Amino acid sequence: MTVQDTQTIFLADYQPPAFLVDHVALEFTLHPTATRVRSTVKFRKNPDSPVTDFFLHGENLNLLSAYINGVAVSPIMTDSGLTCDVPETPFIWQSEVEIDPSANTSLSGLYMSNGMFCTQCEAEGFRRITYYPDRPDVMAPFDVTIHSDLPYALSNGEPLGREGDTSRWQDPWPKPAYLFALVGGTFEIFSDHFTTASGKPVDLNIYVRDGDQDKCAFAMEALKISMAWDEQVYGREYDLSVFNIVAVDDFNMGAMENKGLNIFNSSAVLASAETALDANFERIEAIIAHEYFHNWTGNRITCRDWFQLSLKEGLTVFRDQQFSADVRGADVRRIEDVSALRGRQFREDNGPLAHPVRPESFVEINNFYTATIYEKGAELIRMLKILVGDAAYKTALDLYFDRHDGQACTIEDWLQVFTDTTAQDFSQFKLWYSQAGTPRVTVDESFADGTYCLTLRQSTPPTPGQADKKPMVIPVAIGLLNEDGSEAVPTQLLILTEESQSYSFDGLQGRPIPSLLRGFSAPVILQRSTTKAERLILLAFDTDMFNRYEASRELGRAVLIDMLCNTAAPDPSYSEALLQVLADETLDPAFRAICCALPRPR
Ligand code: SER
Ligand code: ZN
Repeated sequence: MTVQDTQTIFLADYQPPAFLVDHVALEFTLHPTATRVRSTVKFRKNPDSPVTDFFLHGENLNLLSAYINGVAVSPIMTDSGLTCDVPETPFIWQSEVEIDPSANTSLSGLYMSNGMFCTQCEAEGFRRITYYPDRPDVMAPFDVTIHSDLPYALSNGEPLGREGDTSRWQDPWPKPAYLFALVGGTFEIFSDHFTTASGKPVDLNIYVRDGDQDKCAFAMEALKISMAWDEQVYGREYDLSVFNIVAVDDFNMGAMENKGLNIFNSSAVLASAETALDANFERIEAIIAHEYFHNWTGNRITCRDWFQLSLKEGLTVFRDQQFSADVRGADVRRIEDVSALRGRQFREDNGPLAHPVRPESFVEINNFYTATIYEKGAELIRMLKILVGDAAYKTALDLYFDRHDGQACTIEDWLQVFTDTTAQDFSQFKLWYSQAGTPRVTVDESFADGTYCLTLRQSTPPTPGQADKKPMVIPVAIGLLNEDGSEAVPTQLLILTEESQSYSFDGLQGRPIPSLLRGFSAPVILQRSTTKAERLILLAFDTDMFNRYEASRELGRAVLIDMLCNTAAPDPSYSEALLQVLADETLDPAFRAICCALPRPR
């Protein structure tokens, strides 16, 4: 390990880029062991940066030549790139490098997968392709020329055609280098079309190896539904005449949202009814939607630096969760999403790897593609929407897209659109981005003379580097049930902002059964000792399907523990309650199925 490898990077040290890029032209001559990359980059000094040094990232590159404004230069080479004296006025940097894709086993940069050329540039892979300011806040339009005798050579943006072995692409939308992609290989193509809301035709293609054509139809359908959904729900249209997806066997991530050229791990796109389970189809649909939605939340508006990763990932996960809820049924999706959150993110948050949704430092950004950044990040967006309401959320998002299109943004920019559209103060809410750990909410109750008093207390345990935690903004959706299962108080939102807050509900017929944290309105651990009798009523009658499921899970858990520890016979009240759920044909069959499954970990 070199000193370079262990350098810690701090959010607080952020400096705007010294130079901005107005245009990039890349020319590739593909060869498995000796690919040539010629770049022509138009630079100009960034007036908003105090930094003056010209530095380009570069790793594992063999620099063959470099020119500034057509004059050969000899840059100073460093471990992580190069520096060079440059003019004060805008200038053109040209370089030629040679790289060896066949030797690239890290699958970051340009590499080979079963005879095809493939790239993965997020987060910092572009620096393995050529010398460039490989940081997300440097955005530029890219023109790409590829020389290759392979049948297909693809890159981002619009295809400008192929002559002989030369293919040209032009991406008009400024993008950071991490969204660059190139693919070269032999493929079969599964094609379709989409017409955007404003009438623009889009060619849709899925590139696969021969034999996989019959496994594309589901993903294609999911893509078209995603495109229509983003128009209807977020008012976001696609912005190129072609959208390409390539399936690759060797891929580090599930998929990657490169502009106009999404690259997918084969397992995240290919499926046929003969070989795939329902869960595979659901996963493919969600990943297709996720990558497509990045076109606006990630690509048109990107992250200023990698500390802001959740700006695009949390928001895009939230959007794909909303999409799946609309397409597949909201109740069961919510239950599945919370199970995944508890199973992965709560473990992360409650262990040695706990970190905030926006970390303050990192050594290796690739280690931060975590459940906290993605899934907890999505929960924060969900809470914001609950706190401001659906209409205000939409207004805030419209402003976000209008104000920040074409920019590299921060969590502050994101919260500012909510401040500006609602006139609310989100400074305490922002703690969700900086404090790691899962808050605990404990519950004290009393009942007298028709009045039910509820006290909620919050505390967040210490996590590495964060001993003391401040109280957070926790939206707690609650309803009250009567003993006969009827609803005494329909859903209300309690917003916990202090360490402890009390609420009272009067005019009740008798002691109510609380249905707390309806819809799992906040990513917290709720601590209340709920009796079996209460759970049976919640399972049978709660109007909130999430809490009905919670009741079944907790009952099942108690029954299992009782059977294991006391060798007791299964409690008949539990099985009777489940039989009632099973028999209720007004309930979604998928909901009935998960209620009756063995309880998952909490
Ligand atoms: N940016 C990619 C994604 O989340 C990395 O997996 O879609
Ligand atoms: Zn993503």
